[in-house]
Amino acid sequence: MQELAPVAAAPVLDAESVAQEFPILSRRIGGHPLVYLDSANTAQKPRAVLDVIYSALAEHNANIHRAVYPLAHESTEAFEGARRRIADRLGSAYEEIVFTKNATEAINLVAYAWGRAFVNPGDTVLLTEMEHHSNIVPWQLLARERGAHLRYVPVMADGRLDMSALDRELATSPKLVGVVHVSNVLGTVNPVEEIVARAHRMGSRVLIDGAQAAPHLPLDLGALDADFYVFTGHKCYGPTGIGCLWGRAELLAEMPPWQGGGAMIEKVTFEETTFLDLPARFEAGTPHIVGAVGLHAAVDWVEKLSLDAIHAHECALVAECRDALRSVGGVTLYGPEDSAGIVSFNVDGVHPHDTATILDDAGVAVRAGHHCAQPLMRVLGVEATARASFAAHSDSSDIEALVRGIEQVKRIFSA
Ligand SMILES: Cc1ncc(COP(=O)(O)O)c(C=O)c1O
Repeated sequence: MQELAPVAAAPVLDAESVAQEFPILSRRIGGHPLVYLDSANTAQKPRAVLDVIYSALAEHNANIHRAVYPLAHESTEAFEGARRRIADRLGSAYEEIVFTKNATEAINLVAYAWGRAFVNPGDTVLLTEMEHHSNIVPWQLLARERGAHLRYVPVMADGRLDMSALDRELATSPKLVGVVHVSNVLGTVNPVEEIVARAHRMGSRVLIDGAQAAPHLPLDLGALDADFYVFTGHKCYGPTGIGCLWGRAELLAEMPPWQGGGAMIEKVTFEETTFLDLPARFEAGTPHIVGAVGLHAAVDWVEKLSLDAIHAHECALVAECRDALRSVGGVTLYGPEDSAGIVSFNVDGVHPHDTATILDDAGVAVRAGHHCAQPLMRVLGVEATARASFAAHSDSSDIEALVRGIEQVKRIFSA
């Protein structure tokens, strides 16, 4: 089992001063200060990221990789500099970082380009019951097209994966194992290093959906040893419309392009085309230049705070929030105690959409619904949950506002 306790020497994070870096957090909603507890949906953006985005468009805007004037050079440098920075941060090589529009597109890229080349009729793709739709639907499309099978590792009552079932499934040597690093519903931190090691022993490739891990957990791709890892910029304090696929260079190199157009070609004739090397081969058309630049700023901002400090801070908030909701009574909690920044719950007898609406009246923003994980909802035996999720700027006052809102929900529904 992966060690989840925060590093003892993690620097302490001053959430109050961090919050001051987010202009949006000074907004009032319906006469109340905004209490933003929906960072798992999308994170708010610190001023450092907003300023860089403004400056990229106001002072350096030009298309990349194609013109010789200074603006074009600056813009190209900023875009490729972002890639270099992300590669360094993740302990990977520059050419292994492919920019996509989000995590969903990164998974679709692998399912399309790698899957259509290497998954054959009768092969198995092994997923888990706690996957986001983004890590189910692309594989269903592939399986239908290629005549492959999908299998799912069960989730146990404590919100963790059944690792002995994983071993049983691995015994059939699935072509690929796709697993979420941190569940967006339960907050479970899956033991991905262990899963990668076991899957590799059986000759399976492993794709990890890091959409909810990247904002919360320090990551070293070298140590993890997976085959593909994806994440999305907007949950990491960066802009929407930018995400990353990391793939092992030798795997990316044997994958055919998945989209054709400008920027990914070496030579085009009316008859045929040859393609550029990695990573350009997978980036057809004008990319989200300012998205990459904004994501670079977000990576710098997070590093300044330290992911160890953010993780330790959020672990403490999760514990405090779960205790507070338990003491209110009549609240069902989902997921393990040591969830990474996420607390899913239901107020007994109240639909989570009603809970979220009453919380919204008090300025508290949470998400309610199936969280793009309808199969997991069925496993949990519910239609939906409410979900509070934390970020570096969250603090105890946010939890107090949530609890006041939940008490109001109970008052209204007991009347
Ligand atoms: C675990 C997980 N995977 C994938 C995604 C998809 O992210 P995006 O919509 O940015 O592609 C999400 C978004 O909520 C997520 O939580």
